[in-house]
Amino acid sequence: MMSHRQCLTTVTALILLHALSLVSSTVMSRADRITSLPGQPKVGFQQYSGYVSIDKKKQRALFYYLAEAETKPISKPLVLWLNGGPGCSSLGVGAFSENGPFRPKGSVLVRNQHSWNHEANMLYLETPVGVGFSYATQSSSYEGVNDKITAKDNLVFLQKWFKRFPQYLNRSLFITGESYAGHYVPQLAQLMVQYNKKHHLFNLKGIALGNPVLEFSTDFNSRAEYFWSHGLISDPTYKMFTSYCNYSRYVSEYYRGEVSSMCSKVMSQVSTETSRFVDKYDVTLDVCIPSVLSQSKVVSPQQVGETVDVCVEDETVNYLNRRDVQKALHARLVGTRKWAVCSNVLDYELLDVEVPTINIVGSLVKAGVPVLVYSGDQDSVIPLTGSRTLVNRLAQQLGLSTTVPYRVWFAGQQVGGWTQVYGNVLAFATVRGAAHEVPFSQPERSLVLFKAFLGGNPLPEEF
Ligand SMILES: *[C@@H]1O[C@H](CO)[C@@H](O)[C@H](O)[C@H]1NC(C)=O
Ligand SMILES: *[C@@H]1O[C@H](CO)[C@@H](O)[C@H](O)[C@H]1NC(C)=O
Repeated sequence: MMSHRQCLTTVTALILLHALSLVSSTVMSRADRITSLPGQPKVGFQQYSGYVSIDKKKQRALFYYLAEAETKPISKPLVLWLNGGPGCSSLGVGAFSENGPFRPKGSVLVRNQHSWNHEANMLYLETPVGVGFSYATQSSSYEGVNDKITAKDNLVFLQKWFKRFPQYLNRSLFITGESYAGHYVPQLAQLMVQYNKKHHLFNLKGIALGNPVLEFSTDFNSRAEYFWSHGLISDPTYKMFTSYCNYSRYVSEYYRGEVSSMCSKVMSQVSTETSRFVDKYDVTLDVCIPSVLSQSKVVSPQQVGETVDVCVEDETVNYLNRRDVQKALHARLVGTRKWAVCSNVLDYELLDVEVPTINIVGSLVKAGVPVLVYSGDQDSVIPLTGSRTLVNRLAQQLGLSTTVPYRVWFAGQQVGGWTQVYGNVLAFATVRGAAHEVPFSQPERSLVLFKAFLGGNPLPEEF
């Protein structure tokens, strides 16, 4: 048996050790604190950014940006946000064009009045390596990156990040994201649930997926009807696009480098009619003309109210490529000369898009993790109709009955969209007038949706 004295000594040593580890992590996180971003208005919350090493031997490191909650950060949850692509940046798209506290405008940053850090501590991760400021020193690390590697790296990132920010360890944690993050988010959440069985680490309280890729065929083939019903293609072209060559077949052939002449003919007709001057990520907003003319990919959506800057992604590229901005962010460019919205060094396993993740979403629901799937209803890339079908089908498979029948929800005095909830754990919602990037084009509605999701509440039924 231990003597009283020994016991005290042990306790003292433990307390000391604990204090030391707290001090060292506080010091570590302090090194990541952002004093101020160039052109930034004065704010009352803290920001942090920096690198977390994923693999010391191969020198692979992921870059993150944390915008703490505007008020009472200690009492607010931690929310991880992931953009898709695969290969696009959560910092440039998520933080600076969608739901972060600032948007670049010329040489300054302006406040986003509907930033999600009203409600949560927002953590943005550039993932996998090769995206944004995240890097590997050996370029071979960019080859053959796939969903499995990404999920595992994201898990390692979180484990290490919590060591640097122990104050967030036991905090309610939500994972959110959009588009190809319909793969990243459920795959990461699944690893967390598995990890928790051995050592409880992640206080995972829910996931939210915006216009997500969940099941290749259903999601991609919703495009034809969406184009047709919104007047982007003619009756005969719709017929060809649903019988001769549908979109999943085209993508599947394209990724294998063997596009059939039939698919090539159909897609050329579809492209001509839909026009490159219509943004497929929001068929009603205007496009950013300089970016349409300068590149094949229409990066940036459009215009509903005066508050939407359709060229915000061009602004972000300029801003994040400034030396003073990179210095303030503790960021550096490794093996690339320019920060880009979507990576041009990453060689991702694109065929992973065909692997369904809707079944993983089902297993998370079964494990008691609440799930929200939401859809900007102006997006033709991952249209609401496919997502709605998938969620409805999943609810049936899981035997979940409807707890909130299909109805409108309100943001202010206007309809923010439609919603349906199954078994109080699986929810679907549309966001009216919103793009693929919901918080970009409907910031206010997106914040109402986000707040209800965090609180586990149904969306407002009236005003
Ligand atoms: C962690 O959070 C739970 C509530 O979510 C609380 O009961 C528990 O005491 C917390 N543990 C620590 C170590 O803070
Ligand atoms: C799409 O085309 C493929 C190949 O022709 C076919 O197997 C599949 O059923 C089609 N899907 C839809 C939704 O039309």
